[in-house]
Amino acid sequence: MNKDNLLKEAKRVLLDNFQPEGFTIPCKGLYPFQWKWDSGFIAIGLAHFDIEKAKSEIDSLLKSQWGNGFIPHIVFHNDSDTYFPGPDFHHTYLHPEASKKYKSSGITQPPVIGFVLEELYRLAEDKDDILCFIESRIDSVYKNHHYFYSHRDPFDEGLVYIYHNWESGTDNSPMWDHIWETMDPPDYDFQRKDTTHVDASQRPTKREYDHYINIIEIAKSCNYDDRLIAERSPFLVYDPLFNAMLLKSNESLIKLYGIIGDQYEKVEQLEKWQEKSKKSFNDKLFDHNLNAYIHYDIRNSKPIPLISSSSFTPLFAGIPNKEKAVKLIQTLQERFGGENSYLCASFDPTEERFNPKKYWRGPVWINLNWIIYKGLKRYSFDEMAERLKNETVELIDKEGFKEYFDPRKEVYKNQGHGGYGGNDFSWSAALIIDLLNQ
Ligand code: DGY
Repeated sequence: MNKDNLLKEAKRVLLDNFQPEGFTIPCKGLYPFQWKWDSGFIAIGLAHFDIEKAKSEIDSLLKSQWGNGFIPHIVFHNDSDTYFPGPDFHHTYLHPEASKKYKSSGITQPPVIGFVLEELYRLAEDKDDILCFIESRIDSVYKNHHYFYSHRDPFDEGLVYIYHNWESGTDNSPMWDHIWETMDPPDYDFQRKDTTHVDASQRPTKREYDHYINIIEIAKSCNYDDRLIAERSPFLVYDPLFNAMLLKSNESLIKLYGIIGDQYEKVEQLEKWQEKSKKSFNDKLFDHNLNAYIHYDIRNSKPIPLISSSSFTPLFAGIPNKEKAVKLIQTLQERFGGENSYLCASFDPTEERFNPKKYWRGPVWINLNWIIYKGLKRYSFDEMAERLKNETVELIDKEGFKEYFDPRKEVYKNQGHGGYGGNDFSWSAALIIDLLNQ
């Protein structure tokens, strides 16, 4: 397909998935509600051709914000019975500050909205109008960051925890396998819906879902109180992707407040968070043997010495110095970048547990590619950035706007296809629009 047709198709996907309530579903059937980080990436795509829809995407998400600043990972604006766990599962009314108006989950997702606002500022033609929009929303995002540093940083080290694998965005990554071994959840009786839309071999197992559900049951038993969750959740992790998104968003808020003017206290606070977080990030999450950023398991007090696409996302937030960045790129090239592979597998292809077809255990994801592309550009690794961009476009061109893609090049010849998961997946469309316009 030529560039114009790809752009036209991508726009069609976004418009098809846009809902009358003013937000975009990630994918028909499979994900029929509003998801937090999906909405951020979708807003970037929408901003290229319909800034009002981009604004509406952000607004529908911010509406669901809790009194304490928390923003949920799913907002149930609409009805649908094609997804589990749906609106009646999470019982967020247990938390005194949860939204009274919107049903939602009680877990969150990577904090992308800060840098998305900066992207909207970059893309909007009418700068006065978008600045006015940002000015009236930016404090909600600041409040969300304040929530993270005041509720999710129990050791006051500038790193915030996630308490559920769904908060990482990389749901069934092999990172969590050893954590599941520390748990023994009941064999819950529930009706999965995802495997009615997508081949079960490309999705997490029933037993994995038992663990996911169990952590939410524990959070409910804590009334979603962060302090109690930090004490009781069997899953408590510093995730490099999650924290890198927070730092990148802090940076964007500093820039945007600078443009708005007269916000010295908030800027000063954001700069303090940045300084402390960057230091802890490099001290605690960089593995000098692997030459990569890794996850840290707080509950079991140990680093998780495994590499995933999340390991490269700190480039986007300017976290490594030049020397570390060079090492990181070597790791990317050596482990993920062989000539027979598309960049960037979601899990280390040299590891035994790498599974190129299964969700976050190996396939390429377009949002991670976009984040890493931006990171490579930031550090002027232009050749690698160009490769990443071209391969991302090639995958979409071959397979359409699939949810995820097999990183092995030969599969496309042997099997005839390599795109998996949902079809017409919104962020695949949104971010291709952005990449094609770089
Ligand atoms: C899912 O259902 O797989 C979602 O990613 C969880 O948020």
